[in-house]
Amino acid sequence: MSRKILVTNALPYANGDIHLGHLVGYIQCDIWVRYQRMRGNTVHYVCADDTHGTPVMLRAEKEGVTPEALIARVHGEHLRDFTDFGVAFDHYHSTHTPENRAYAEDIYGKLKTAALIDTRSIEQFYDPVKEMFLPDRFIKGECPKCGAADQYGDNCEVCGAAYAPTELKNPYSAVSGAKPVLRSSEHYFFRLSDDRAVAFLREWTRGSNASGVKRLQAEAANKMNEWLGEDGENKLSDWDISRDAPYFGFEIPGAPGKYFYVWLDAPIGYLASFNKLAQIRGDIVIEDFTDAARAEASATEMVHFIGKDILYFHALFWPAMLKFAGYRTPSQLCVNGFLTVDGAKMSKSRGTFITARSYVEQKLNPEWLRYYFAGKSNGTMEDVDLNLDDMIAKVNSDLVGKFVNIASRCAGFVTKRFEGRLAATDAAATAAFAAAWASGSIATCYEERDYSRALREIMHLADLANQYVNEHKPWELAKQEGQETRLHEVCSTALTMFRDLTRYLKPVLPALAEKVEAFLAIADLDWHGDWIALPAGHTITPYAHLMTRIERKQIDALLDANRESLAPAASAAPKADADTSSQQRHAEKQQHAAAATEAAAAHISIDDFTKVDLRIAKIVDASHVDGADKLIRLQLDIGEDRPRQVFAGIKSAYDPATLVGRLTVMVANLAPRKMKFGMSEGMVLAASDPDGKTGGLYILAPDNGATPGMRVK
Ligand code: MSP
Ligand code: ZN
Repeated sequence: MSRKILVTNALPYANGDIHLGHLVGYIQCDIWVRYQRMRGNTVHYVCADDTHGTPVMLRAEKEGVTPEALIARVHGEHLRDFTDFGVAFDHYHSTHTPENRAYAEDIYGKLKTAALIDTRSIEQFYDPVKEMFLPDRFIKGECPKCGAADQYGDNCEVCGAAYAPTELKNPYSAVSGAKPVLRSSEHYFFRLSDDRAVAFLREWTRGSNASGVKRLQAEAANKMNEWLGEDGENKLSDWDISRDAPYFGFEIPGAPGKYFYVWLDAPIGYLASFNKLAQIRGDIVIEDFTDAARAEASATEMVHFIGKDILYFHALFWPAMLKFAGYRTPSQLCVNGFLTVDGAKMSKSRGTFITARSYVEQKLNPEWLRYYFAGKSNGTMEDVDLNLDDMIAKVNSDLVGKFVNIASRCAGFVTKRFEGRLAATDAAATAAFAAAWASGSIATCYEERDYSRALREIMHLADLANQYVNEHKPWELAKQEGQETRLHEVCSTALTMFRDLTRYLKPVLPALAEKVEAFLAIADLDWHGDWIALPAGHTITPYAHLMTRIERKQIDALLDANRESLAPAASAAPKADADTSSQQRHAEKQQHAAAATEAAAAHISIDDFTKVDLRIAKIVDASHVDGADKLIRLQLDIGEDRPRQVFAGIKSAYDPATLVGRLTVMVANLAPRKMKFGMSEGMVLAASDPDGKTGGLYILAPDNGATPGMRVK
């Protein structure tokens, strides 16, 4: 029986560009959707931009546009990026739409009727200058544990400590710089701690989908057990779902000045996008997918593909909201790990924070990335490493060297010698190839999202096809007298094998598959038709190049295009709005840490730059530091009463004695930082190769005439 599945991908925030990290989850999902369709299942595949919250509001303000204008622009950019990578949603909606408001109000109303909404007063930091409550990520200060300056209100990026914003030392508002004050305000809560919710989640977590597949991957189920605690225990706390004006979002019905927190209406955006798709299409019965009773009766499924940092929202709040509002609950969550590049977190200074746009603009083939990501996806929550040299090797050897090679070695003879017409295939070889396929598990691997294994099996079959070609050497048959028939048969057989390899690869490489379909002049390859050999007499079109090799210099150009000379870790924009409830703080801390700095803006404003107080400094003393192998202790005169002490990591390049008396440039308003060796009261500027390849370090020096204390801008 064919399945009817609503598939969703996490909704990307409307305050940042799509990057290769995002694409891991979108490509995994798109592959699954394409596979399901090839099987003959009905799939509705939707996504949308996640538009609400403080970051979007502030970014729009900074750009001098309305939030609506900002999200409209970003919507176009995101959709174009996904399309370029072959991620083909049936509809790409927005959470700032009438459909989403209607569902949000309906769900909220029903939760209220079910006595699952509470109000209570909470104390929160308030920015008296900007006149707004501050989400945790917009409060900065010194880490209460290690004293590192400029840390966010929820966790320290230097020592990893997690804390409440009220614990920060010398807190300031990242919006206005003002010192925040504590203020109380009434907030709305979803009562997740209610026994009904806990009991439901316990049961939901352990369930399976319609095909008997576990709703959650093993690692996700473990996380849930941790969050839910032992049977009989109740570790959940209520979820703060309101925010005070000014806020970009939906006002809560009957609560003037209170808005739904962005994470309340974000997942509801899945339903909104689906609803809009149904309106456009006209042949979808929405309630069969959304209403609890009708979904059960019509055996529809709802499958969410998300990254591991947002599991908490999708495995606790979301199913509970749906359940107690009478909606259908998710059939399955498919959770992906995080992307690292060459073994490290994506980095702007190394150029590995690669945007989808730059990849396309540098003319790299998106299907190279799809193939590589698929080869790294095994259906678990493990992180995925994009090793750039490995990607080059895999694509060149597998796709170009093994797969495309079969067609390029055989097609020419068919066109030139046989007017493009195929002969009957070599029955024994075709049968052996089919048997090898049948003994494998490519279909199961796709179903279980173990694409890595699927590709290994497919490449094994490609090896068999190449062996067949190598054994029969069409290029030699072509030169021999009286071997016409044999040549014709060998090439036709190899092309039949090539046709089937294309079928198996099609979920991963849809554009390449389309080219092959045109080249072989065959209909859409699917997974359930007759898999007979291409018939004798079938005419193919002349072979045109299917895929080029990747060269290292293309990758280097891509890194260059993404490299930012300054590494402004401190200017990274917050990823998401952040809640003040301990529960969500827990969620964000546990899971957002890896993603914390990723949404940094590509440009800074002149105001951002002038915040940095750069001064000409005279090095009045320089000495080695006992027990430090990289540092030199400098005393810097910048025209103040006493010199500043700065620890500079330049020992590998300078002898302290040669530094005394020189002029250099220092950052004078960096928050002082307590180090093992004493206070460091600033930073000197030095140049170095971003990859650290040459190892050289060069401190800056001004032109003649500059004097200590002069401002540098
Ligand atoms: N807006 C929320 C999701 C709301 S869903 C109702 C969000 N947006 S996001 O833009 O930060 O991330 C979108 C998706 O990309 C999420 O599934 C997230 O986990 C994933 N990823 C973001 N950065 C990633 C990596 N570096 N690596 C892998 N996945 C990443 O979260
Ligand atoms: Zn710290």
